[in-house]
Amino acid sequence: MRTHYCGELNSGHIDQEIELCGWVHRRRDHGGVIFLDLRDREGLSQIVFNPDHPEPFAIADSVRNEFVIKIAGKVRVRPEGSVNPDLPTGEIEVVGHKIEILNKSKTPPIQMDDEDVHEDIKLRYRYIDLRRPLMQKNLQLRSKIVKEMRAFLDNKGFLDIETPMLTKATPEGARDYLVPSRTQPGNFFALPQSPQLFKQLLMVSGMDRYYQIVRCFRDEDLRADRQPEFTQLDIETSFLNEDDITNIMEEMISLLFKNILNIELPSPFPCLSYKNAMDRFGSDRPDLRNPLELIDVGDLMKEVDFKVFSGPANMEDGRVAALNVPSGSSLTRKEIDDYTAFVSQYGAKGLAYIKVNDIESGLEGLQSPILKFLPDEVVSKIIERTKSANGDLIFFGADKTKIVNDSLGSLRNKLGHDLKLIKNEWAPVWVKDFPMFEYNEDEKRWESLHHPFTSPEVEDIESIKKDPKNTISRAYDLVMNGFELGGGSIRIHNAKMQKAVLELLGISSDEANEKFGFLLDALEYGCPPHGGIAFGLDRIVMLMAECDSIRDVIAFPKTQTASCLLTSAPASANDRQLKELGIKLSKIKK
Ligand code: AMO
Ligand code: AMP
Repeated sequence: MRTHYCGELNSGHIDQEIELCGWVHRRRDHGGVIFLDLRDREGLSQIVFNPDHPEPFAIADSVRNEFVIKIAGKVRVRPEGSVNPDLPTGEIEVVGHKIEILNKSKTPPIQMDDEDVHEDIKLRYRYIDLRRPLMQKNLQLRSKIVKEMRAFLDNKGFLDIETPMLTKATPEGARDYLVPSRTQPGNFFALPQSPQLFKQLLMVSGMDRYYQIVRCFRDEDLRADRQPEFTQLDIETSFLNEDDITNIMEEMISLLFKNILNIELPSPFPCLSYKNAMDRFGSDRPDLRNPLELIDVGDLMKEVDFKVFSGPANMEDGRVAALNVPSGSSLTRKEIDDYTAFVSQYGAKGLAYIKVNDIESGLEGLQSPILKFLPDEVVSKIIERTKSANGDLIFFGADKTKIVNDSLGSLRNKLGHDLKLIKNEWAPVWVKDFPMFEYNEDEKRWESLHHPFTSPEVEDIESIKKDPKNTISRAYDLVMNGFELGGGSIRIHNAKMQKAVLELLGISSDEANEKFGFLLDALEYGCPPHGGIAFGLDRIVMLMAECDSIRDVIAFPKTQTASCLLTSAPASANDRQLKELGIKLSKIKK
């Protein structure tokens, strides 16, 4: 129906007769001449209709925003003074001599150039929202990224293999989405939280290198970088160790950035141990574009009278840390109070600080509510250790290590953004040497930090049982600009070890057999050493598109309450369906 996309015309097409199809982006009446901005996937072109062709002119005059039309015309250079340098097609316009309305449109609830449309309206009319040039660009970018990934993996000998959606629970730490079975009333499938177990089975089958771009389902609290259904680039390999795997993946991510954004990522990606990341940044997904770092001062605080500091300094799982903020002494009382309220969300009981006004004047040059509690030599050691300069401010956190890390780690991110300290660069980092287990204080039991199929570094079951806290796993995460893009590990391929780890997690052998018996069996039939990784595709696209939410790079995303405003899902089932499924609903409070 057309010869070109609207967005691809340029001065190279001058004097050509062309045909375009698209949506009326804007219609302007300029003293008897009608201008239509015609839009399609690739962009906009300006079409001019003159009254000396009365028939097309009348039709052009009657069209409204978002009508779908087809035009025929001749490309010409725009008259002097009307060239639009902001528009790729801004040097030319099309003199229209034919116009056909292919379909009308009601007045759309979303105006294409209105930035302030309510999120609910955008999701309710997502098909219109997706017409916006930014959304078109994001989905095109997503498609390009997937194409590059597939080409890369295909080149490296990876096989694209599908795994079931109707399956059994796969433990990744979230709640499952359940699907009732009609043929076996009372039984449920679970939608996969990831293809973890199937991809391991594929290694037992000798597939050697597997990948899949696959939907995963997790019923968990949603955030800007989390959706209940999201897409993973899922990968598993045999006979490769962690360095082999992370090297291939690093090559892939670097190639994506190079080929798509023409950005050279640092090579090799820096690497941090989990402990290092927590000590320096209070987080296992540090944003390395942010220059702020946490600095331990616990050793200086063991003897001080100030209990707020000496308490945690002498606790086994306590921490006292400082965060030096360059030029922070200009923060007002109110701003410091706001930051104190901010860290209290993470359990911090306060946010002590020292303003460094003038180092030369000694203690006189400092301003702080805690100076009176600290000996002078401790104060000077703090200044020395934090390398504070005039005009800086030092914040302190003292509590259980987890609280200090959570609160100062989040404060670090917030200050980085508030004070515009985040460098304009791309900062990938591998985080390695994770602890195998984490103690769940509420439930008084050990949990896997990654998942229960991750291999420990030492292969001695007894020593792991003796000291779960200090057992390191063979897991690795890829973090970029503070987002966890992907995570994986070398897996346990020995049935005995797998059983021991499940036992340590408090899963009885009956429960283990019921839940993962098929995997435990498979490990006994020639399972090769294997390992893999999964990337959050939506997060990769979000970062590369420089968007704030993964919703902006998913065609039909869900809301914060995991519903789809477009289709009104989830919805009730009718009585016949429920009866067939053998389900009776208890009274549900609206
Ligand atoms: P993990 O649970 O770390 O690992 O998930 C891998 C990556 O998937 C992305 N991700 C999400 N993205 C959007 N919304 C969500 N709700 C969401 N949850 C996770 C993240 C994350 O890094 N089976 C293991 C991988 C392996 O060991 O190979 C797994 O699923 O970017
Ligand atoms: P207080 O003696 O409770 O008035 O506290 C003195 C200063 O220490 C105040 O600036 C508090 O914000 C700060 N503070 C109190 N508890 C903590 C804590 N656990 N970590 C860091 N600072 C704290």
